[in-house]
Amino acid sequence: MEALEAIRQTRIVPVVTFHKPESILPTFGAMLSGKLPVAEITFRTEFAAEAIKLGAMTFPDMAVGAGTVTRASQAEAAIECGAKFIVSPGYSEQVHDICIGADIPYIPGCVTPTEIMNVLDHGIELIKFFPSEQYGGLKTIKALSAAFPQVTFMPTGGINESNLIEYLSNPRVVACGGSFMMSGSYDDIAAKCANAVGLVNSLK
Ligand code: 3PG
Repeated sequence: MEALEAIRQTRIVPVVTFHKPESILPTFGAMLSGKLPVAEITFRTEFAAEAIKLGAMTFPDMAVGAGTVTRASQAEAAIECGAKFIVSPGYSEQVHDICIGADIPYIPGCVTPTEIMNVLDHGIELIKFFPSEQYGGLKTIKALSAAFPQVTFMPTGGINESNLIEYLSNPRVVACGGSFMMSGSYDDIAAKCANAVGLVNSLK
């Protein structure tokens, strides 16, 4: 399934940071057993590229993407390893160009009207609103939506089981990103993913 379609359907993008290589496969396994086949693997540790490669190879039906991509070299490494989408905390024209060249979606972070106008000029209409809670959460998303009717949002940062439904109830919110389901044992991760999927399904 195309990555954006997977994100639109699951409506949750787990933000996953690996601190040791031996946790990569069991973590993907736990996410899949919780029926959450999307992962944004952050370039915050040295294991990101390896995790993307292993995940993409072992679970081809999973939409494995890269997050916290701030440099062109990270985008290149992620795509080389099989990343199906790229997320950045802000907008990088270099990263965007690499995504265009590879024909994969780029979801950059934006919080201000000027930042949004800049990405609209570059043909991007789905943005990561990050860090969401710190920048006013839904209240800010609603105000920005009025000015930018073409923009849709993937808020990330401070989202968890208690505010997920409220965010996802907003028609302009395509999906929410977050790490809230990624802590604890592998069983905990599977259970938290399943619970998050259940919350999404309760909106259908
Ligand atoms: C991210 O990188 O997108 C955020 O760190 C995720 O935010 P959270 O940890 O508050 O969910």
